[in-house]
Amino acid sequence: MHNFDNINNLKKMQKKILITGGTGYIGSHTTIEFLEKGYQVVIIDNLSNSKIEALEGIIEITGKKVDFFQLDLTDKEHVAEFFEINKNIEAIIHFAAYKAVGQSVENPLMYYQNNLFSLINLLEAAQENNISNFVFSSSCTVYGEPDELPVKETSAIKKATSPYGNTKQISEDIINDLVNSNPNFKAIALRYFNPVGAHSSAKIGELPLGIPNNLVPFITQTAIGIREELKVFGDDYNTPDGTCIRDYIHVVDLAKAHVIAAERLLKSKNKTNFEVFNLGTGKGNSVLEVIKSFEKVTKTKLNFKITERRKGDVVAVFSHTDFANEELGWIAEKNLDDMMLSAWNWELNLRNRQ
Ligand code: UD1
Repeated sequence: MHNFDNINNLKKMQKKILITGGTGYIGSHTTIEFLEKGYQVVIIDNLSNSKIEALEGIIEITGKKVDFFQLDLTDKEHVAEFFEINKNIEAIIHFAAYKAVGQSVENPLMYYQNNLFSLINLLEAAQENNISNFVFSSSCTVYGEPDELPVKETSAIKKATSPYGNTKQISEDIINDLVNSNPNFKAIALRYFNPVGAHSSAKIGELPLGIPNNLVPFITQTAIGIREELKVFGDDYNTPDGTCIRDYIHVVDLAKAHVIAAERLLKSKNKTNFEVFNLGTGKGNSVLEVIKSFEKVTKTKLNFKITERRKGDVVAVFSHTDFANEELGWIAEKNLDDMMLSAWNWELNLRNRQ
């Protein structure tokens, strides 16, 4: 009896990582990496753009328990209550945000309201509860149409090309200001390039609700017959094959970087109290190269046609990776073929289940 009491007390004391947006695409893969490293994880997600099934996938893959709270971070009162109950959080990994560029152009207030108030509420709660380690999900979108390629962390932050991009820029500013005001508070912003692919188990992956905006889910849904054809948005750009260039990065590589970033903060290995890292492979691929890789690894023919450009697309963006490679000791290990194959296996598994 006495022993059980001790174990229960120990469990209560055991520190946890809070992952907001933990049932989302990058959040779910990151949750797995933390669990597999032996961390206890608590997830907050309002399920506005994800499904609870992701949690089942996480538990199936890891065989571990994870606490889940369905909660909207814009709801300040309930956020405060959450931290009343969960007193043992040592780091926050903040993913929960809206992310569709086009939707943000149509409904900017929805984006500012959700992405900024969620962040502010969470940061306030972190301050009140003396949680001093914060990893923020940022994006290469903060660079806008870059002046130099590959893009360095020190490259100019240009005017955002969408309200979504602007929320990422403003969020980084808010975090930076807070860090400057409180010497005990430390943060890392991770600027993702284009996350694609899925977990090797094919039990979790990207789960766009409705018609996908992003390239890879549109490709896999077209190949499986849910969409009639993929539209390639423009082949008259100033690039070798005329289509836009992006730095596609496997979501599992990306997820691993979050554990490294959190540990950097937890072990006080950070050099300044607000650090920013690019997370990409350093290699740019065109839309047509992505299609070619997909066709090769899946041995299927994709139905696609070239159409007009999509408004707001930047021509080319890919990452300078030295800083993340050297400082974090992290490197993207998976290539484009791995990304395409894992995305396809996930799509197949998903549709077989339905
Ligand atoms: C954008 C943002 C990124 C954000 C992501 C979230 C930039 C530079 N990047 O990525 O920060 O995290 O949205 O949604 O702002 N394409 C097609 N046909 C399609 C879909 C896409 O040809 O049906 C092309 C696009 O023109 C683009 C490439 O595929 O060249 C990738 O597009 P997408 O997957 O939507 O990502 P980004 O717009 O690069």
